[in-house]
Amino acid sequence: MARSRPAILLSFALATAAIMAFAPAPAAATKYNITKILAQYKEFSKFNAMLSATRLANDINRRQTITVLAVDNAGMAALDHYSKQTQRHILSLHVLVDYYGEKKLKKGGNTASSTLFMTSGIASESSGYVNITHKSGKVNFQTDDADDSSKPSQYVKSIKEYPYDIAVLQVSSIISSAEAEAPVPPPAPVDLVELLSKKYCKSFADLLSANAEAFRAVNETKDEALTLFCPVDAAVAAFAPKFKNLTAKAKTAILLYHALPDYYSMQMLQGNSGAVTTMATTSEAKKDYSYDVESSGKSVTLRTKVVASAVTVTVDDSEPLAVYAVSKFLQPKELFKVVEAPAPAPEPASKKKGKAADGGDDGSSDDSGSDTADKGAAAPQVLKRWVAAAATVAAALALM
Ligand SMILES: *[C@@H]1O[C@H](CO)[C@@H](O)[C@H](O)[C@H]1NC(C)=O
Ligand SMILES: *[C@@H]1O[C@H](CO)[C@@H](O)[C@H](O)[C@H]1NC(C)=O
Ligand SMILES: *[C@@H]1O[C@H](CO)[C@@H](O)[C@H](O)[C@H]1NC(C)=O
Ligand SMILES: *[C@@H]1O[C@H](CO)[C@@H](O)[C@H](O)[C@H]1NC(C)=O
Repeated sequence: MARSRPAILLSFALATAAIMAFAPAPAAATKYNITKILAQYKEFSKFNAMLSATRLANDINRRQTITVLAVDNAGMAALDHYSKQTQRHILSLHVLVDYYGEKKLKKGGNTASSTLFMTSGIASESSGYVNITHKSGKVNFQTDDADDSSKPSQYVKSIKEYPYDIAVLQVSSIISSAEAEAPVPPPAPVDLVELLSKKYCKSFADLLSANAEAFRAVNETKDEALTLFCPVDAAVAAFAPKFKNLTAKAKTAILLYHALPDYYSMQMLQGNSGAVTTMATTSEAKKDYSYDVESSGKSVTLRTKVVASAVTVTVDDSEPLAVYAVSKFLQPKELFKVVEAPAPAPEPASKKKGKAADGGDDGSSDDSGSDTADKGAAAPQVLKRWVAAAATVAAALALM
């Protein structure tokens, strides 16, 4: 049977190669869908619905190594009288930014875990922690600023665990915290054009306000949850010749491409890398219009496969609206030719290595606004994965 081992190895390698070549490219860091996990449990339907309504479900799905403390429908009644924003703050305290399966929870000593509430931008430095303590065989969850009259929330049971990505546990009641429960003033009315014009993004404000459809969509979303990446004036000027060439439909799409229908604080951008869908995604059926947000230390770069655009400064950050200036106009792969090598993070524009390197602000790539770019976009990706697959085969052969 000595001969069969290399054969098995090889066929394994080939199977792996085939899978790697044809499997869809990994999208976001999203491995699990909390909404789907909880959907199987009727007693948590209220908790689940509120995670979606407050958009916390998105934040949970983007994370890894996380623990969700779920409260049953009866316990959720305690949140009925709060505004949606306050509900979001309170529930974000029930998302621990660490993995606590039942085993670890029961074995571990007393500890303080950080929570998603800390990323909300309203939590003070010391708040946003949940203490996990053990007392007479029970595990308690409590904050430092809990209401004096409140009893600690207690561990009930494990609902679902995917070590060490996500644990969903049931706790007996809502965890109390004065800071999270504090009323949130309604967002002050914001004049989007004025806000953009005042700092860095006057030209983009002009483009946006000149496009009634895009402006209406973005303006309506800003009070709900919006992150807008506005190219600085120089970037708009550099892109202007290409922009003029786009069809009316493509102009609307590319403007909406700069808007995410979700709120991301700078801390959230810096703490997560992954794909984001844009308002262009939701506006046009069957089009992707997503891009990767990549963070490295404090710097955040948006990569569209055509261009890499760096977040340069926060124009405004007041939940649920965040506006960031970016160094380059974002060009979607749906409208422009894909640049094969991942575009390097934009650097001070000194050495320009040909048109491919920086996504071609030199105006040389096609911008027909047609669908043909899609096919071209797919090819290099598949190629790249084949190269990786071939390397796997080679490695397996080397073992024989
Ligand atoms: C998660 O699951 C829910 C319910 O099955 C679905 O509506 C939603 O689109 C899913 N979200 C993602 C990001 O896949
Ligand atoms: C929570 O933990 C912190 C740090 O370990 C500690 O200083 C604090 O007293 C604890 N609070 C409660 C209510 O257990
Ligand atoms: C933009 O939205 C605000 C509400 O936040 C509204 O008062 C204003 O009229 C809108 N502007 C336009 C041009 O639709
Ligand atoms: C705009 O389109 C015209 C005609 O298709 C083309 O000749 C020109 O190079 C394009 N300009 C830019 C900047 O892409």
